Amino acid sequence: MCGIVGYIGKRQASAILVEGLSKLEYRGYDSAGVAIIDNNSIDVMKCKGRLANLEEKLKETPIEGTIGIGHTRWATHGEPSDLNSHPHSNEDGTISVVHNGIIENYIHLREWLTSKGYKFKSETDTEVIPHLVDYFYNGDLLDAVMKAVGKMEGSYAIGVICNSDPDKIVAVRKDSPMIVGLGENEFFIASDIPAVLNHTRDVYLLNDKEFVVLTKDGVKLFTEEKEEIRRDIYHVTWNADAAEKGGYEDFMLKEIHEQPKAIKDTMTSRIMPGKPITLDEIKITREELENINKIYVVACGTAYHAGIVGKYVIEKLSRIPVEVDIASEFRYRNPIIDKNTLMIVISQSGETADTLAALREAKNHGARVIAVTNVVGSSVSREADDVLYTWAGPEIAVASTKAYETQLVAMYIIALFFAENKKTLSKEELEDLKKEMLLLPEKAEECLKNKEIIQRYAAQTYTHKDMFFLGRGLDYAVAMEGSLKLKEISYIHSEAYAGGELKHGPIALIEKGTVVVALATQDELFEKMVSNVKEVTTRGAHVLGVTFEGNESIEKTVDSAIYLPRINPFFSPLLSVIPLQLFSYYVAVQKGCDVDKPRNLAKSVTVE
Ligand code: G6P
Repeated sequence: MCGIVGYIGKRQASAILVEGLSKLEYRGYDSAGVAIIDNNSIDVMKCKGRLANLEEKLKETPIEGTIGIGHTRWATHGEPSDLNSHPHSNEDGTISVVHNGIIENYIHLREWLTSKGYKFKSETDTEVIPHLVDYFYNGDLLDAVMKAVGKMEGSYAIGVICNSDPDKIVAVRKDSPMIVGLGENEFFIASDIPAVLNHTRDVYLLNDKEFVVLTKDGVKLFTEEKEEIRRDIYHVTWNADAAEKGGYEDFMLKEIHEQPKAIKDTMTSRIMPGKPITLDEIKITREELENINKIYVVACGTAYHAGIVGKYVIEKLSRIPVEVDIASEFRYRNPIIDKNTLMIVISQSGETADTLAALREAKNHGARVIAVTNVVGSSVSREADDVLYTWAGPEIAVASTKAYETQLVAMYIIALFFAENKKTLSKEELEDLKKEMLLLPEKAEECLKNKEIIQRYAAQTYTHKDMFFLGRGLDYAVAMEGSLKLKEISYIHSEAYAGGELKHGPIALIEKGTVVVALATQDELFEKMVSNVKEVTTRGAHVLGVTFEGNESIEKTVDSAIYLPRINPFFSPLLSVIPLQLFSYYVAVQKGCDVDKPRNLAKSVTVE
């Protein structure tokens, strides 16, 4: 997500900040800015777009000064714009802040600060921070930042400068990355090590809730209780390229591992036990919802597969009929749409041409449109009536993993929201589902531990030319995504089939050694699925089964099995897709494919 750099030393800060930010570009961003202390006043320069725009502006109007903070922003709260870019400042511009993360209670803090007379200029959650620091500032910047942080809930890495305390940068982190660079009489903060590698290889790695004070004389680390911490220096021996991938071989593997956090972020402040589901960006009223008699879920590729899961869960919980369509088909089939139709478009990028065209088609016929997208300010988010952002962070690998996972989370949230508003579930039923859903991040983390067995299975099977993915119900929807992932990155032909459909054709293709991945996570369909697996094993297929812990009886039928940690099977797609992603990944690696940039594919398809 966002990138942070801070500098204090003898050299001009501006060029060092921009150069550091350029090393964080891989994190994705839509705007950039710097704040620099010059002659006891803070100059801020920020703008929407690429870092080159900021550089250009700084060339036209250079900012002098040897202490500063810089930021690249990936929009979450508020569209990408000059105003929403960081750094953010208090009203008189004496305090400036850069922030990475999400302040979950920012609405409450904003109201509280407004009641104290503070005025807000941007739509961001971040802007509460400079005002909070201002509120608590009493001559000691560290003290004020500590008190401000005491009020904040959520995740944050922040850097703060203040012109009344002009020889200092104060920083802190919680659940967002930050390191401190230790140069010769100059010091840095940064979201990631590559940002400082041109200047130093000595860094402090910060832990959650550790505060840092950087001056020209050195760096001090403090606990929340203001006790000084001694930290060993970590000497960096690897190169910047490896660091951008956080030590992973590829972005795809990194993004697969980021899924527990992406699930958590997407649920944050929306699903809370004992509280109604909060979707600030969805304005549809209870009455409007009552009148909806049909929902179209429309998307392309992986997002379409998230839509298929969406159909199951929305229909099950809210009892509204749902049709799922491929966007490029929807727009040309003269679909039946009127003002009681709701369309949900799903698009990671928010720019896919077919999805956008389908959205426009539905709007022209009077339908209301909810967009589920990962990119704030994207075309679909601007043209839809309501938006539900997935907070997966930038996805760099072409084959989607963490964005799909958060699209699923979004579909479950929408289903629960509809059920709550239409009262199709009792309070207790809703509460049980919410509680179960909140367990997903830790369960997803456990799924990542299955790596070795999957890697072994991939090593045994990667030379095959065809593979099959089978499932029933929700498992069928996930089988489709597993099959697509394999095709995309390993170039192996694969097909997904509903377990019951197998004998109507595809079983003719099963022969000795054919690889079949069979999902069996739905309790009421388990025995039926086992029968379908037997149909292929008796014809010689080599089967990998994916099921929940406790279903070890599957081993009598399959050749290898992956067990998912137990959860209500209604949520199984969020877990069962993880071993399938890893399987595709390891097959592609075995075959020597370029996992992050598969041939012929584009991340965002902006042509028809
Ligand atoms: C391309 C990408 C897929 C993606 C699809 C839809 O085909 O390679 O990974 O699922 O477009 O993209 P969207 O941005 O609309 O989700």
